Amino acid sequence: MVKKMNIAIDGPASAGKSTIAKKVAEKLGYIYLDTGAMYRALTYAALSTGGDLHDEEALHKLLQGIRITFSTAENEMQRVYLNEEDVTEAIRSEQVTQNVSLISSYARVREEMVARQKSIARSGGVVMDGRDIGTVVLPDAEVKIFMTATAEERALRRYKENTAKGMITSLEELTEDMKRRDHLDSTRTISPLKKADDAIVLDSTHLEIDEVVKRILGIIEANLKPLQTLD
Ligand code: CDP
Ligand code: CDP
Repeated sequence: MVKKMNIAIDGPASAGKSTIAKKVAEKLGYIYLDTGAMYRALTYAALSTGGDLHDEEALHKLLQGIRITFSTAENEMQRVYLNEEDVTEAIRSEQVTQNVSLISSYARVREEMVARQKSIARSGGVVMDGRDIGTVVLPDAEVKIFMTATAEERALRRYKENTAKGMITSLEELTEDMKRRDHLDSTRTISPLKKADDAIVLDSTHLEIDEVVKRILGIIEANLKPLQTLD
């Protein structure tokens, strides 16, 4: 029998984490968990209820009262639910994107999120992407990847994504937003975006999606061998 491992993928915005993590999970038959979507869902909930985004206690209380779940249908886009509401598109709005890093900086919010994420990965078989997966959520993950790409390339990717959705955005503004969020995420006191010491760095600036997936599967394969045991 082959033991199911946990795979941690961290890195800055638009490095390709979710696209690649999802494909890797599909190939392995593992669960994919987008932790950024969890922080986005809480941000959306806070904005919808008109709460004070600077009130850490109120945000923690709000989080305790909500369920954030994901659909698992094969070959379909993963959908995100806030209680019963499908918020897949709503959590990608500009307003959520502008405020999510603030909400993610609160210790009480992170404690609760990390506890939920750890619990999902308890039995292994999870590919999780975020900012603090290899360092805080799954420090014992068998494979850790730190995915990067230049801010310009990441902004260009977001720009193309928006254009495909019919959204008009400015590449300059997207680049600035990317840098602002990188700064907030990397300099916050609690669980900053940081490469785990044992993570493998993968720069995707000049790599196609399939090539990155192939490389990660190769890294996993190399880690799998010592874990194989006879049933
Ligand atoms: O999709 P995008 O790269 O824009 O970001 P995301 O993965 O959806 O994450 C949105 C925000 O949530 C990040 O900018 C972080 O502020 C926060 N986040 C976090 O603090 N810790 C995580 N494990 C995941 C996301
Ligand atoms: O999850 P994260 O914010 O790190 O990035 P993503 O949402 O997976 O990827 C952002 C965009 O970059 C998507 O439109 C991907 O298709 C694209 N991408 C790419 O063009 N080349 C890569 N090597 C990885 C992602």
